[in-house]
Amino acid sequence: MAVANWSATCHGLFIISFLVIVSALFGTSSAQLNATFYSGTCPNVSAIVRSTIEQALQSDPRIGASLIRLHFHDCFVNGCDGSLLLDDSANIQSEKNAVPNANSTRGFNVVDDIKTALENACPGIVSCSDILALASEASVSLAGGPTWAVLLGRRDGLTANLSGANTGLPSPFEGITNITAKFTAVGLNTTDVVVLSGAHTFGRAACATFNNRLFNFNGTGSPDPTLNSTLLSSLQQLCPQNGSASVVTNLDLSTPDAFDNNYFTNLQSNNGLLQSDQELLSDTGSPTIPIVTSFASNQTQFFEAFALSMIKMGNISPLTGSSGEIRQDCKVVNGQSTTQAIELRSGSAEKTVNLEEM
Ligand code: HEM
Ligand SMILES: *[C@@H]1O[C@H](CO)[C@@H](O)[C@H](O)[C@H]1NC(C)=O
Ligand SMILES: *[C@@H]1O[C@H](CO)[C@@H](O)[C@H](O)[C@H]1NC(C)=O
Ligand SMILES: *[C@@H]1O[C@H](CO)[C@@H](O)[C@H](O)[C@H]1NC(C)=O
Ligand SMILES: *[C@@H]1O[C@H](CO)[C@@H](O)[C@H](O)[C@H]1NC(C)=O
Ligand SMILES: *[C@@H]1O[C@H](CO)[C@@H](O)[C@H](O)[C@H]1NC(C)=O
Ligand SMILES: *[C@@H]1O[C@H](CO)[C@@H](O)[C@H](O)[C@H]1NC(C)=O
Ligand SMILES: *[C@@H]1O[C@H](CO)[C@@H](O)[C@H](O)[C@H]1NC(C)=O
Ligand SMILES: *[C@@H]1O[C@H](CO)[C@@H](O)[C@H](O)[C@H]1NC(C)=O
Ligand SMILES: *[C@@H]1O[C@H](CO)[C@@H](O)[C@H](O)[C@H]1NC(C)=O
Ligand SMILES: *[C@@H]1O[C@H](CO)[C@@H](O)[C@H](O)[C@H]1NC(C)=O
Repeated sequence: MAVANWSATCHGLFIISFLVIVSALFGTSSAQLNATFYSGTCPNVSAIVRSTIEQALQSDPRIGASLIRLHFHDCFVNGCDGSLLLDDSANIQSEKNAVPNANSTRGFNVVDDIKTALENACPGIVSCSDILALASEASVSLAGGPTWAVLLGRRDGLTANLSGANTGLPSPFEGITNITAKFTAVGLNTTDVVVLSGAHTFGRAACATFNNRLFNFNGTGSPDPTLNSTLLSSLQQLCPQNGSASVVTNLDLSTPDAFDNNYFTNLQSNNGLLQSDQELLSDTGSPTIPIVTSFASNQTQFFEAFALSMIKMGNISPLTGSSGEIRQDCKVVNGQSTTQAIELRSGSAEKTVNLEEM
């Protein structure tokens, strides 16, 4: 009896530890995102996101660029948890007020439109953080870029991190070494820096983000010598005395709204707009140079790499399982209220100048 009891206990312990190991394994694997997460609960989610963006593009050719930037600025701060979308409230210090975001991030109204369409089709199912991942892929493919299977199943966070946004997001002025360190801090590498910078193949930037190159670069009293002189004169006209906050121009001067590899060919003619763009090729000895060169000569290689790096960026510390929540309103944590009844919408009064028309 004693032997049989011991044997049963031992067997039981074995089964329990086996279950612990198995559930640990499955625990990790169920915490992973996958492409079919909504196939049972919101099978049309991708088409709904895409068609809302198609509509927005009719009046705003920049919107796709603005939406992918939201995903980037979300993922780099406390992971891809929709933290960027939260407005100021009693409990939230909004990341929208961080230096890299203020007067610059835009498209929040379209995120809300997507959320409304999804709540109508499948209430309470799709997270705001997944909306940003889906909107990024739709925006890129609608602009002529690659498609990829978006991994899904993120849940929305309950907090924002204003100081994290100020310290974690890269600045165009800080040099490739420091920018690479910010990517490394979230599990991305030098290849990802170059590949994802290729998102600057569409969208706009304000004078304040490149005027450091125009008149007194880095305290030299002269413009940035790596800036194409033709582009330099247009930009100096566009941004006199360093320019106005409401003036923006195209990041890609050759094909402003298309997703292609011209960002990289522009760098070869010294036509990168931001200091951080041109440095990828012009910083002597930088490990980024051969990557730029191969993407400039082979768009397929860029497109394949872009899909992989986007999936990698979208995997930064997602909340899964029962962590976080599915927000009803992307601007507000469920059950809380916002102090901002009317959302500040930056960019509505801005002027875009196409340099080729100057
Ligand atoms: C490598 C470091 C990066 C730096 C320093 C940087 C910096 C900037 C700056 C300064 C602007 C202009 C913002 C404004 O004037 O309002 C901008 C715009 C943009 N960025 Fe980046 N960025 C970086 C990486 C990325 C990544 C990883 C993505 C996405 C994958 C991205 C996508 C965009 C897009 C699409 C725009 C245009 C947005 C619009 O037109 O609304 N950037 N970026
Ligand atoms: C996708 O992830 C969810 C949640 O972790 C899980 O329930 C589902 O089985 C996964 N689907 C596949 C095909 O792995
Ligand atoms: C999926 O959504 C698109 C865009 O809203 C719509 O045109 C289409 O009819 C929907 N399909 C189904 C099966 O509901
Ligand atoms: C944003 O723009 C407003 C109005 O032009 C200005 O008052 C504010 O200082 C700007 N904020 C930042 C962080 O640049
Ligand atoms: C905010 O972000 C910073 C920088 O990533 C991080 O060190 C800090 O732990 C975050 N704070 C919270 C409360 O998540
Ligand atoms: C790069 O980062 C270091 C350490 O954080 C800092 O001291 C330095 O000022 C940064 N360089 C630039 C150009 O921002
Ligand atoms: C960056 O990571 C990818 C895998 O995610 C890898 O293929 C690539 O070689 C890495 N690049 C560098 C410079 O380490
Ligand atoms: C323009 O900005 C640069 C630094 O980016 C600064 O050195 C220069 O004094 C500014 N010029 C004016 C007219 O504000
Ligand atoms: C800016 O100037 C500093 C100090 O003179 C120098 O170390 C640095 O390399 C310069 N940066 C660029 C991008 O030229
Ligand atoms: C400057 O840009 C133009 C195209 O805009 C190009 O033809 C020219 O070769 C570039 N100059 C240099 C020095 O890269
Ligand atoms: C471009 O890159 C793709 C993907 O890596 C490769 O299959 C193709 O052979 C390359 N094309 C050329 C002309 O090198």
